Amino acid sequence: MPEGRKTGTGSRILQKRRIKTVSEENVPADYTEMDFLEAKRFDKKVKENFMPAVVSTVKQIIEDYGVLEGVCVDVGCGTAVFAIELCRHSKLKIYALEKEKAIYEVARMNIEKERLTDKIIPVLGNAHELPFENEFANFLISRGSYHCWEDKVRVFKEIYRVLKKGGIGFVGGGFGRYVTEEELNRMKSLRDHSLKEDAKAYSSPDKLREVIYKANISNFHIVHDKAGLWAEIKK
Ligand SMILES: C[S@@+](CC[C@H](N)C(=O)[O-])C[C@H]1O[C@@H](n2cnc3c(N)ncnc32)[C@H](O)[C@@H]1O
Repeated sequence: MPEGRKTGTGSRILQKRRIKTVSEENVPADYTEMDFLEAKRFDKKVKENFMPAVVSTVKQIIEDYGVLEGVCVDVGCGTAVFAIELCRHSKLKIYALEKEKAIYEVARMNIEKERLTDKIIPVLGNAHELPFENEFANFLISRGSYHCWEDKVRVFKEIYRVLKKGGIGFVGGGFGRYVTEEELNRMKSLRDHSLKEDAKAYSSPDKLREVIYKANISNFHIVHDKAGLWAEIKK
């Protein structure tokens, strides 16, 4: 066999290996496809890779809004890793809402394992039709779910409906201002690899602004910095 062909085959094998390594490192992001085992793998990957962002964002929230109390809704809570951290640093009663049954089951198990069942209530439901009455929540958080919403305007209308007067919504995605540069670069690269095209949602402040205007919300401001891309909504 000519030398060139050997090298070609070798490089194809190497390329395959490289592709496999990258996809193994990715955090699963096809939420709708997940069965229980895949949801457990998603949970493990989030805990292994994104804890600095969770800790940093909760720290930022408590610093900006004070020790929060009352009712909180976490929209698209995943396996409740963020809700658990927020609960530990606040006096909130958190309704952790998740659309995917398998992910919701893992969230329920995490909440039980942390003995927080009196403070965090897992809810199986869809952000497009929040299963809460008007003016239910003092605080609403949604981190890293925005890119999934098919009708973003509708979800923001739901978020506004559910907020109490005087309530605050903090919606978007990112890593919080307290991560180190090194942590930020590692997590950002992993997120972008995992979400692929969807990651662009978190670098488009104009689109986020447009969606919120269309939802007829006027009292908001967009934060786009090291902490990520966030909309702070005040009702
Ligand atoms: C990247 S995870 C973020 C989890 C968590 N918020 C965090 O900060 O770690 C996004 C989650 O949003 C959920 N999600 C997507 N669309 C949703 C919707 N329409 N209603 C409720 N949850 C949704 C997904 O199933 C997934 O669990």
